[in-house]
This record gives sequence, structure tokens and C-alpha cells, in this order.
Amino acid sequence: MYTVTGTLALSVFTAVLGSLEFGYNIGVINAPQKIIEEEYNATWVHRYGESIPTGTLTSLWSLSVAIFSIGGMLSSFCVGFVSEWLGRRKAMLINNLFAFIGGSLMGMSKLCRSFEMMILGRFVIGAYCGLASGLTPMYVGEIAPTSLRGALGTLHQLAIVIGILLAQILGLESLLGSEDLWPVLLGITVVPTVLQMALLPFCPESPRFLYIIRCQEHHAKSGLRRLTGRQEVGDMLAEMKEEKRRMDMERKVSIPELFRSSLYRQPMIISILLQLSQQLSGVNAIFYYSTSIFMKAGVQSPVYATIGAGVVNCAFTVVSLFLVERMGRRTLHMLGLGGMCVCAIVMTMALALLDSVPWMSYISMLAIFGFVAFFEVGPGPIPWFFVAELFSQGPRPAAMAVAGFSNWTANFIIGMCFQYVADLCGPYVFLIFAALLLFFLIFTFFRVPETRGKTFDQIATNFQQRSASAGMMDMDMDMDLDKPSTEL
Ligand code: GLC
Repeated sequence: MYTVTGTLALSVFTAVLGSLEFGYNIGVINAPQKIIEEEYNATWVHRYGESIPTGTLTSLWSLSVAIFSIGGMLSSFCVGFVSEWLGRRKAMLINNLFAFIGGSLMGMSKLCRSFEMMILGRFVIGAYCGLASGLTPMYVGEIAPTSLRGALGTLHQLAIVIGILLAQILGLESLLGSEDLWPVLLGITVVPTVLQMALLPFCPESPRFLYIIRCQEHHAKSGLRRLTGRQEVGDMLAEMKEEKRRMDMERKVSIPELFRSSLYRQPMIISILLQLSQQLSGVNAIFYYSTSIFMKAGVQSPVYATIGAGVVNCAFTVVSLFLVERMGRRTLHMLGLGGMCVCAIVMTMALALLDSVPWMSYISMLAIFGFVAFFEVGPGPIPWFFVAELFSQGPRPAAMAVAGFSNWTANFIIGMCFQYVADLCGPYVFLIFAALLLFFLIFTFFRVPETRGKTFDQIATNFQQRSASAGMMDMDMDMDLDKPSTEL
């Protein structure tokens, strides 16, 4: 059994400060919307001597919200290149520059009477989050011992949800969500940045990266010793050696090759679909628009209900943390998707009946809480670290870039379109998510393997065997994959 050393705990804690900031910036924009919009109007009046036209205000606000995901989309695509070029640790360190610039721009925008600064700040902080959303799971996955990879990987999501909750609470008008203090609410994002910059020098670089990519056996060994607290790390090094030997036989993997090579196509499709299952589950429809959803559902105090959803979100991520090494990724993911699907249907029925049965507002609130809870059991945490598990050292960075890009693109689409589709479909909007959830559930059942307790090398070897047998006998492979694959 494995002991968690101080260095391992410190390294994981330091890395997930990036995830905390990611979550904070997802949640921070929800509560102070009205107040910031008033500020945009005041700036407009100051500049042009008249009130801002409603259409312009809506466009400026949508841009302020959505440009965050565009920053994330662009930067997540660079995760592979940046993490190979600078190394995981230095990449995280330098990424903090984005957080500084983004946080400062947003924090100073009121003082400078400039909504352009605010919008630019959201873009830059989005770029920070895009990189963090790839670098953190990659680093944590690489330094974690095999038996704890899932649990430690879930900490990325736990930090995200704590970030969201912090933002929801600090965003209350009585705290920082007020006319005077909202710049602090947005600028405070630099605090975890400073902490991360102070702590990163004490964390070892990923030994896998040092050994497999940089061929620095000596440094890799000393990193392993610090992380494990053991002098004898020969077994771990041997595992990495095997992975390196295999990698040296392959060419460097570029993004197009991930799709062309029969070896990587299958894990790549699984990675992308898992990311899509996370975003197209509709969870961010709740996190971006919860206040208006709760209002429509007839809930008395929507702001507190939003915080309630944040608390449920955190609590169930902790549940997943304890279950993921016992029940496995595949089972939890399916449980989460199935539960969400049922909750989406209950929510739709409750919303449809609301006019005739007033207490349905409670049912819809409970259904929303259930929806969020099931999300965190599987679809929230698992896709983030699963991609790092499915690929060996060589293709991992490129794969994470593609997966991250898919996640952010889907996130952007939901952020932009949900409001319009909700207006169009009324109470039935969540049926769309229910259908998507069912599709992803079926996909997971047939295609997603279990990776719990397997080394990276074993996982990669299994896909290799599958693709080799596919090459030899295509028919057989199809039959084999169509069987539920509980074990790799
Ligand atoms: C996941 C998603 C993120 C979402 C969050 C909610 O981390 O990637 O988009 O807001 O979960 O808990």
C-alpha cells in the first residue's frame, strides 16, 4: 500500500491551486452581473453622454462571459506543446503570468472606466484556465502512484468546485458582490497565483517527464525518491523504462497522427466523447444560469439555492474521491450519467407541472441538486484525469490538448446557446440533455474500458493489442469491442 508523502501532498496541493482558480473564474461572473452591467452603462454615459442601448449592453455582457471560453479554447490547444517545451512545472509557473495580467485587467477596469479591459481580462484569465485545465491533471496524473491516480486526479475537480463555491459566496452582495467591491471580487483571483508561484519551486518536476522525455535518469530518480519517500525506486523506474523503450520505437506523435494512427484513434475518440459527455450533460447551464433557472422554477431565494447547488457540488466530489479507486471509473461515470438523465426528466416534469401544482418548485429544486450530485459522482471529475490515463508519455500531451479543446468548445457552445434554446423550448429544454446523457451512457457502456489499478504501460499495451488484432481481423475486433469492456 502507498503512503502519501509530504512532497506528494504539497505537489498535488500546489498544482490544484490552478484548478481552484479555474473554478473561481467559472463561478464569479454569475452573481454580480447586474452591478457590472450598471458599470458598463455608467462608462457609456461618461463617454457618449447617453445610456447604453440595451442590445449593445447584452452583446457586451455576453462577450464578457463567453470570451473566457474562447481564451480557454485557444490556450488548451497549446497544452501539449507548452508542457513539452517548458516541462510541466515550469509551464505551470509561467502560466501564472496570464493570471496576473487577467486578474489585474479585470480588477482595474472600473478604475480605468473601461469595459474593454474587463473583456480583455476575461479572455486572458480564460487562457490561463485553459492551460491549467490541461497542465494540472497531466502533472498530477504523472506524479501520482498508480493506486491513487484516480483519487488524486479527482482533487483537480474538487479544487474546481471549491473555486466555484467560493466565487458564489464571495459574490453575495453583502460580501464582495457590491457596487464598490466587485473589482476586488474579480481581481482577488491573483491570490492563489501568488501562492502557487511561491510553492512551485518546492515541488519536483514530473519524474516521468524528466526520464521519458528529457532522458534525465538522475533527476528523475531523485524526484521519485522525494515523492515516494523511498530510497529504492527501481521498480518504478523499470516501469518507466519500459514505457520509454516503447516510445523510442514510435515516432513523435502530432495531433493529426492521433486520428490517423489506428493505435491512438480509439482512445482519442473515447477521450473526446468523455469530455463532451461532461459538457453536453448540461451542467454549466446550471452553473452559468442557475439564478434564472431557479427563478423560473419558482424557488424563493435563487441566490441561496445557487449556493446550495455549489455545496452539493462540493460534497459529491468528495464522495467520488472515496469511490473512484473502489468502484472504478467506468461504473461511476455510468452511474453519474444515468442519474443525471433521470434527474433531467424529473426536472422537466416538475417544470411542466409548475403552474398547476405549486409544490413542484421543490421537486425541481431537488432534481437540480440531484443533477449536480450525479454529475460530480462521475462525469465531473473522471474525464479530466481519464485522458492522462489512456495515453502513454509520447502521445499524452497532444491528446490532452485535443481533449481540452473539445471540452472548452462544448463549454463555449453551452454558454452561448443555452439561453436561446431555453427560451425556445421552455420547460422542455432539459430533455435535450436527457437524450444526450442517454447517448453518452450507452457509449460508455460499450466503449469505455476500466483503467483502475493499471499502469500507463498496461493501458497503452492493451490498446495496442486491440489495434493489432483489429489490423489482423477487423471483424473480430468489432465483436470484441461491442462487448461491455469492464477490464482492459
Ligand atoms: C467540470 C467542468 C466545468 C464545470 C464544473 C462544475 O470541472 O469542466 O466546466 O463548470 O465541472 O463543477
